[in-house]
Amino acid sequence: MLKKLLAAVAGASLALTTLTACGSGSGSGSGSGTITLGFSQVGAESGWRTANTKSIQEAAKAAGIDLKFSDAQQKQENQIAAIRSFIKQRVDVIAFSPVVVTGWDAVLKEAKAAGIPVVLTDRAVDSDPSLYVTFLGSDFVEEGRKAGQWLVDQYKDTREPVNIVQLEGTVGAAPAIDRKKGFEEVIKANPNMKVIASQSGDFTRAKGKEVMQALLKAHKDIDVLYAHNDDMGLGAIQAIEEAGLKPGQDIKIITVDAVRDGMQALADGRINFIVECNPLLGDQLMDIVKKVHAGEKVDRRIVTVETVFDQAKAREVLPTRKY
Ligand code: AHR
Repeated sequence: MLKKLLAAVAGASLALTTLTACGSGSGSGSGSGTITLGFSQVGAESGWRTANTKSIQEAAKAAGIDLKFSDAQQKQENQIAAIRSFIKQRVDVIAFSPVVVTGWDAVLKEAKAAGIPVVLTDRAVDSDPSLYVTFLGSDFVEEGRKAGQWLVDQYKDTREPVNIVQLEGTVGAAPAIDRKKGFEEVIKANPNMKVIASQSGDFTRAKGKEVMQALLKAHKDIDVLYAHNDDMGLGAIQAIEEAGLKPGQDIKIITVDAVRDGMQALADGRINFIVECNPLLGDQLMDIVKKVHAGEKVDRRIVTVETVFDQAKAREVLPTRKY
């Protein structure tokens, strides 16, 4: 009888151990107590992106989080495949920076059905917010507004026409949509300010140069260039110089990001104003991942704190700029 009782107790405790192991987290890293994070990055299209990737990799290492990192090369289908692979591997948490806003419902529902929490970083999606835990990143509309406000202030005493060309980011990406929206919202109060051409440069230096070359051929009267990131602005500067014009003087230039190369161009007077977009999201992301894994509540929207730079401020901060 005693033997039978001991066997029953041993069996029950084994079942409990198994149950606890499953219940403590379904991820591949939960057996060792290490959190496994699957992260799908947009690509390596810009200096901002390189700094963002470095920040995430370093922060994961410092936090002792096992990071499974995947580079989507700016293709949504690669991101969807990576997320499906993370689900199959049963990671503890999935995070990703969505290349475009639309088309995520199916894969987010699959993650939810598998019980794996999803964190959005950097860019937003248009899916039902119940499909992800939180969104950590910039307010891109506000960035666009800051760019527009600087321009309005610069030209406040003139009634002359101001012809603007806009280099947009990747078609369908949140920063491209929102930076355009915020900028145009502010400048529309000034009837003399007109966006005479607006085209995508896909957030890359090469495309920024190519599109600017075409714009310079088509329009002889460009006063201002608004580029949705530094890289496209820097590519456009090459095109402007090759056309025999002086960037920053013949054409005023506003960009977004404030990565080192952009800040150097601002300090040199080849860019006139930069709106900051902070790529150093790694530490905040790892804190969120830990909280989510522990079942703690996190805010549904976490907005990055950012500033703006003119030439004097760029010169001041350049020596200590991290990226
Ligand atoms: O989503 C952030 C944007 O993506 C950055 O402004 C741009 O440089 C990057 O490619």
